[in-house]
Amino acid sequence: MGIKKAVIPAAGWGTRFLPITKAIPKEMLPLLNKPIIQYCIEEATACGVEQVVIITASGKNSIEDYFDSDFELESMLEQKGETRLLEKVRYVSNLADIGYIRQRVQLGLGHAVLTVKNMIGNEPFFLMLPDDIFENKEFVLKEMIRIHESYQCSVVAVKRIAREEINRYGIVACKKVAERVYKVSDLIEKPEADEAPSDFAIMGRYLLAPEIFECINKTKPGRNGEIQLTDALKRLIRHYPLYAYEFEGERWDAGTPAGWLETTITLALKEPSTGPRLRNYLNKQLKK
Ligand code: G1P
Repeated sequence: MGIKKAVIPAAGWGTRFLPITKAIPKEMLPLLNKPIIQYCIEEATACGVEQVVIITASGKNSIEDYFDSDFELESMLEQKGETRLLEKVRYVSNLADIGYIRQRVQLGLGHAVLTVKNMIGNEPFFLMLPDDIFENKEFVLKEMIRIHESYQCSVVAVKRIAREEINRYGIVACKKVAERVYKVSDLIEKPEADEAPSDFAIMGRYLLAPEIFECINKTKPGRNGEIQLTDALKRLIRHYPLYAYEFEGERWDAGTPAGWLETTITLALKEPSTGPRLRNYLNKQLKK
């Protein structure tokens, strides 16, 4: 049956990138040749998602403009015979059926997810955090669908991380049931390393049963005084199964200036049109 809807939260302040995020949403910062948010929309549509809901806030209108059609621009390019540019412009506006909803107050990731309750209805959906960029792209979501179908469960993508990184992530306690598949028995949002039940960290891809909404509704503010999705998942597993998928390949965090730079360089090195030249340049710089 597959998963038809994906939700992308993009309402945050982007404080780590201030002051540029006063004027440009973090999700619109470029990663190589496209904005950060486009990576997860392409990832979703490549595995059968038909409708994408982006959670925005004030100051985020450029996201809507970017994915909208631009009649004047298109007719100008058409008149000038700029077919390749026209194709590029139309590709973006035809990527997916995208809907928007505003999170009026920013009370945490759990709270953001609750804003899409009526748009999602009673079906499972993907939640995709746009800062997380995956080397194996849609393969991660496809495996999550397979696990969801085999075990009739919600799924989180996880990766083993170093001890010093533990307090930056939601951590799961889990037991292996198959190759790269684990049943989750507990979750903690950003624990200190000594309190963490494992080194399996949630990375930004979730396949959620619609029951998550009633769980978020009952969840009290947790870490940082925010309504945490991790706490709502802890509530969900009291009655519904949650599995973790330990995905293969790398994942980059484009959500901090240093991580954004590393992601940009990694993608540029892999890209045939920029890779060889950049490698050459970096080698020269490193010898200085
Ligand atoms: C969020 C989640 C956290 C998860 C992380 C993945 O944290 O709350 O559980 O591990 O995304 O990137 P944030 O990075 O928004 O603070």
